[in-house]
This record gives sequence, C-alpha cells and structure tokens, in this order.
Amino acid sequence: MTLLLHLADFNERRWADGFAAALPGRKVVTRADSYDPDEVEYIFIWKPKPDAFEGLHRLKAILSLGAGVDALLRNPSRPKDVPIARFMDEDLTQRMSDYVVSQVTMHQRLMTRFRRDQASKQWRQLYPAPAWDATVGIMGLGQLGLDAARHLKVFGYKLRGWSRTAKAVEGVDVFTGPEQLDAFLAGTDILVNLLPLTAETQGILNYDTFSKLKRGGIDNEGPVVINAARGGHQKEADIVRALNDGTLKAASLDVFEVEPLPQDSPLWAMDNVYITPHIAAASSERTGVAYFSKVIKDHEAGLPLPNVIDFARGY
Ligand code: NDP
Ligand code: OXD
Repeated sequence: MTLLLHLADFNERRWADGFAAALPGRKVVTRADSYDPDEVEYIFIWKPKPDAFEGLHRLKAILSLGAGVDALLRNPSRPKDVPIARFMDEDLTQRMSDYVVSQVTMHQRLMTRFRRDQASKQWRQLYPAPAWDATVGIMGLGQLGLDAARHLKVFGYKLRGWSRTAKAVEGVDVFTGPEQLDAFLAGTDILVNLLPLTAETQGILNYDTFSKLKRGGIDNEGPVVINAARGGHQKEADIVRALNDGTLKAASLDVFEVEPLPQDSPLWAMDNVYITPHIAAASSERTGVAYFSKVIKDHEAGLPLPNVIDFARGY
C-alpha cells in the first residue's frame, strides 16, 4: 500500500516523515518521490492541483487535511466514487473556538471604537454592555459551530444558530432552512459564519443578508460579521459597502474570495476590519498524523471511515 501526500501551504515532507514513522510497513511518498501510481491506495491532500488524481486508479479513500472539502469536491480529476474522509479533531475545534471567542468578545467590548480613540489620542469613557445583552448568531451548527456555541455560552452571550436540518441545542435558539433565515438574522447582533461552502451557501454573506441583521443592538452602532468558514461565502464588495454606509459596524475576516487577499483590496485599509490570513484553525501536524494513521489502519482492518463527506449534501 502507498500513501501519497499532496499538500499546499503545509510542509509536505515533514508530514510524510510523520506518517512514515506512524505507519511502518507502508510506503509513504510525496509528489517529489518516485512511486507507482497503481499502488497508491490513500491520498492525503490539501488544496489539490487540477490534475491531482490523474493516474490514481486504485484509490480506496481521499483523506482531507482540512475540515472543509469544497476545493476537493470541485476538483476536475477527482474520482467520483472514492469516499472522502475529512479531518476533524479536538485541537482544530478548540482553535476555531479560540478564534470565534476572541473576535466576538473584541466586538462586544467595542474595540473598534476604542482603537479609533487611541489613534486620535482621545480619552472617551463608554461602558460596554455585558455579554448577556448581545446576541451571537452562528450560521452552521456542525462540529465547529456547536463547539463555538459551547464556549460562548460560558461568557453569557445570548445564542442563536442556523442549520439546514432541525435540531435541539441546549441554550441556543435554533432556526432551520431558508424559510427561517430572516428571523434568525433579525435577532442577531454578531453574526458568525461556520457553514460549509456549497451551492446553497455560496455568497450568503451579502448586502441583503447584512441589512436584515438586528439594528439598535448592543451599542446602537450596527451589527458585526465574523467569517471563519470560506471566502466563497462572502461578497467582499458588499462587505465594503455595508461597512461604509453603517449597515455593518465591523467585520472580522479569516477567509477571502481570493487568497492571499490581493494588495488592492480596500479591506486592508479599513479600520473596522480585522484581517487574519486563513489561520483560524489550522490542522495540527502532530494530531493530524495520529488521526489519519489510525484512520488508515482501521480502514485496512475493515472498519468504516470517520467523518465521510455526503456527496449529495456537499459537506
Ligand atoms: P459541519 O459539516 O460539521 O457542519 C456544517 C453545518 O452547516 C451544519 O450544521 C449544517 O446543517 C449547516 N449547513 C450546511 N448547509 C446549510 C445550509 N444550506 N443552510 C443552513 N445550514 C447549513 O462543518 P464544520 O463545523 O466542521 O466546519 C464548517 C466549515 O468551517 C468548514 O466547511 C470549513 O469550510 C470551515 N473551516 C475553516 C477553517 C479556517 O481556518 N478558517 C478551519 C476549519 C474549517 P445540518 O446540521 O443540518 O447538517
Ligand atoms: C480547513 C481550513 O478547512 O483550514 O480545515 O480551512
């Protein structure tokens, strides 16, 4: 059996060495190594090139380094009948909740206003409302959305969530499907996006959505959007417009329509925009190697793959 690594933005060689140590007796290769494509049974992949799967006729599973698989699903050379198992573990989940909590608390504590005052050396006392006066609306109540809700609950925020199918989550008002989206937005002060990128969710963070968010909320300055999911969810021209005309007070963006964010994007210069370079929740090399080595061993032993993508749903 051969495991092929095809990674961008991550150190392919180091991950391969980790897998080789954890999977004795199996051949672990990177694209730079020589290998027989007919022996490749597993591919561990992130940001695939268009021809990533060409010549791999005996694949048993596609193992995604990332939790989001939209790029994999779009890949033109992907064999459509080979299952995709995505990465998901406590380490990644905790990192995402860290990101969400940090951005939510920063906005609730009016940091954009205080940062502006600092820039103009102004001492203006304004007392932020307590967390329980703010409603955080989480789009996507999956692995990451639910964990973010769990962490935010501890701080006292009012919570609501939006998912595709109905569910009961303690301490969270759950809204379901397109028909309840407007009601969900109408009560949300701080909107957090943790949806997968699918045909239904593409471009969902647009001007129309922002204009439906709650007005006169926590500090009477307008709602906030936090996007840690995918750049394809957001229309950046609409974010700029909404920030400029007050429809949005501020935005925290970890992901972008084009990554890296182009130099000429107006977002860079806006003092109510908090940009991070798609780092909200990276997959850890240590836990990732341990996780997928076990997945491969279990699969070889006849056990089912975990966290398999449902091709019909698109996530
Ligand atoms: P999950 O697949 O576990 O959960 C997805 C959630 O979104 C589910 O609650 C699902 O509803 C809901 N959903 C899907 N489609 C719709 C829809 N059309 N309308 C309403 N709700 C919908 O995903 P994760 O929580 O694991 O991850 C979310 C995303 O986060 C990933 O897809 C990835 O893109 C992104 N991500 C970003 C990272 C970063 O560093 N910036 C790191 C890791 C992930 P239901 O429960 O009904 O199925
Ligand atoms: C992921 C990501 O999907 O890092 O895991 O974006």
